[in-house]
Amino acid sequence: MTSGFVASIDQGTTSTRCVVFDAHGRMVALSQQEHRQFYPQPGWVEHDAAEIWELVRVLLPEAIRDAGIDPSQVSALGITNQRETAVVWDRHTGKPVHRAIVWQDTRTSGLLPRYAAQAAFITDRTGLPLSNYSSAPKLRWLFDHHPELAGPARAGDLLFGTMDSWLVWNLTGGVAGGRHVTDVTNASRTMLMNLDTLDWDEDLLAIFGLPRQLLPEIVPSICDVGTVADPVPGLRVTALIGDQQASLFGQTTLDAGEAKCTFGTGSFLLFNTGTQPVRTDGGLITTVAHQQQGQPAVYALEGSMAVAGALVKWCRDNLGLIRSVAEIETQASTVTDNGGCYIVPAFAGLYAPHWDSNARGLIVGLTGFVTKGHLCRAVLESTAWQTRDVVEAMNRHAPVPVSRLMVDGGMTADNLLMQILSDALNVPVLRPMVAETVALGAAYAAGIGAGVWPDRRALRQHWHLAGEWTPNWNDRDRETACAGWQHAVDAAIYWGR
Ligand code: G3P
Repeated sequence: MTSGFVASIDQGTTSTRCVVFDAHGRMVALSQQEHRQFYPQPGWVEHDAAEIWELVRVLLPEAIRDAGIDPSQVSALGITNQRETAVVWDRHTGKPVHRAIVWQDTRTSGLLPRYAAQAAFITDRTGLPLSNYSSAPKLRWLFDHHPELAGPARAGDLLFGTMDSWLVWNLTGGVAGGRHVTDVTNASRTMLMNLDTLDWDEDLLAIFGLPRQLLPEIVPSICDVGTVADPVPGLRVTALIGDQQASLFGQTTLDAGEAKCTFGTGSFLLFNTGTQPVRTDGGLITTVAHQQQGQPAVYALEGSMAVAGALVKWCRDNLGLIRSVAEIETQASTVTDNGGCYIVPAFAGLYAPHWDSNARGLIVGLTGFVTKGHLCRAVLESTAWQTRDVVEAMNRHAPVPVSRLMVDGGMTADNLLMQILSDALNVPVLRPMVAETVALGAAYAAGIGAGVWPDRRALRQHWHLAGEWTPNWNDRDRETACAGWQHAVDAAIYWGR
């Protein structure tokens, strides 16, 4: 018999949240804290994995306390995380040997040409385009620049993991016998996992020159992962799942043909393709959506966009254009269009569907007519146009076109953006009541693993509509506006050459 409370840890790019949900999928308590971002050089982004672990040690018991329940009433814990971010640590001391190299980091652009001849092979095996996004090039960079780590790595003294692995290892005992595992969704982002066998691929390890003993064991997303030793002893971990796959689960977009997009720091559109991986020409990522122990894996097509909400924060922090994130909508609402102005936020190159690591961001179409309102509108539109590029690529490859889009993430509080999105995509956009779909998805997965919910179908009754937007633009206006965006993207790619 289970109590019905489930906890999740959502370890994201900018903050870590611990959330407690009840058996109806309602959020009961949330503890959250940001961690430091390190930018040692232009394009480099690092996190202190030890700081993140310390946050989890504080936030998890705090969330359970705030829920007003005893830890023994929490049936299970699910862990979800920023994906691709690479952590390497010493199994004897438990200390990271380097700051975590974050998914947005572009330091590996220079070493990618080394693998150009194998690019098609790598994409075929992994579903990933050769880019600086995945973990394997980050690991290669680490060993190239710290040759003293090669010996300990070969000897099995070092461990690699994405944030899920790092947290589970620490939660389940750390140096005293923590479990070194990752799940199929996170492993599918490393560029080292074979998408068909769902195991590490010896050819890929040889290409990147990485020893097998560095890597965690790959387990299903929903399984008996282990038992927490610290900070909530006895709590069962029954799910690990990458954050974008978690939100696909949290939105209960569980059938082939359903799609969701999460608008956070970056934005990530996942289209469920069922138990068949659908390969593309490399414009989209083929990825694992989730796998329950004893069942076949479910796959998704993903369009990843590196910069969405990050552009709004950049306007606030680097330009001083707005005083708060919410002000972007207020300013953008003072105008009815972009005044001819487009912003391409290629801060980390361009991700889907272009995958150009060298592209650079730009603002085009400036005239004396352009106001702050037009610039703010162009900021919001850049997210909508990027999403449209991804949906167009999806529709070329997916068995059925995207006919409506479920959305979540911090940026979906911006109603003007939601309307522009529906206009640009020409499909309805639907936002659920629970905005914390990443944390909710991890809790759902963990709850299924622990028997709180009988199966995935039972979760659908918890999904409630909070807002719906339908397209207002006519085709001619849409195509004209989109043509301007395409020219701006071409210029961003040209600028990086
Ligand atoms: O692939 C990167 C993604 O998992 C990061 O998501 O929400 O932490 O920015 P988020």
